[in-house]
Amino acid sequence: MSTHQDDTALASASLPDRLRHATRSLHTEVERTGVMRHLLAGHIDRAAYTALLRNLAAIYATMEPLLAAHRDHRWLRCIVDDALFRSAALAADLQALDASAVTDALAPSAQRYRLHLQHLGAHAPGLLVAHAYVRYLGDLSGGQVVRRIVGKSLHLPTDAGLRFYEFGDAAQAKSLAQWFRQGLTAIDATDEEKQALCAEAQFAFTLHRTLFEELDPGRQGTLPVTTMPS
Ligand code: HEM
Repeated sequence: MSTHQDDTALASASLPDRLRHATRSLHTEVERTGVMRHLLAGHIDRAAYTALLRNLAAIYATMEPLLAAHRDHRWLRCIVDDALFRSAALAADLQALDASAVTDALAPSAQRYRLHLQHLGAHAPGLLVAHAYVRYLGDLSGGQVVRRIVGKSLHLPTDAGLRFYEFGDAAQAKSLAQWFRQGLTAIDATDEEKQALCAEAQFAFTLHRTLFEELDPGRQGTLPVTTMPS
């Protein structure tokens, strides 16, 4: 049960600590959901992995131009750096994995995610911080574990197909994550605004949870899909 003392301690905690605390249980959930569960168990095949990448690529392709367009925003300027951007790496991976074999369809939740990001870009760009947190700290942390599992599961002989997880060597990935956390700490936000950022990060996790359910290889073919806009 949360006490007044806990609440006070949390309110004075740094933004990265608050984000971690707010999303901890959702993180555990998404790791165990749908396609992610198969992936972690080492049971993902090329078609399921490529479908996952295609959907993530669509999300990044929406998020990154918005982050770049709003990089002068007083919050975004603390955490936006080109070294984080994944769109080019995702395109290279899709090419290396011969994504032409997979349909051009997007899962409904990826489409919904894109619309939500566009809405934020137009009306509340500061909240994009929460989405950058969920994606980039995830890629920089757990992504490094996922990379090894995917390489093994798909029998990839080289790093071709695994560029998504590449941020330089381990030390560079670590220092980029550190830089990102420091940037979050430097964000000048009120307690209420920090709460809004935490709620937005929670929402980002729930969108991922639905996406991973929709992309569960056991459910493929049973869900409606929307066509990827050009
Ligand atoms: C499925 C495999 C995954 C594994 C094995 C994994 C593992 C990890 C690990 C080991 C950390 C570091 C925790 C720490 O520094 O204390 C981490 C952090 C993180 N992961 Fe994951 N993760 C996975 C999936 C995901 C997904 C799908 C997302 C996003 C939707 C995500 C988002 C994050 C975030 C935002 C952090 C930073 C937490 C923080 O320090 O604030 N992870 N993950």
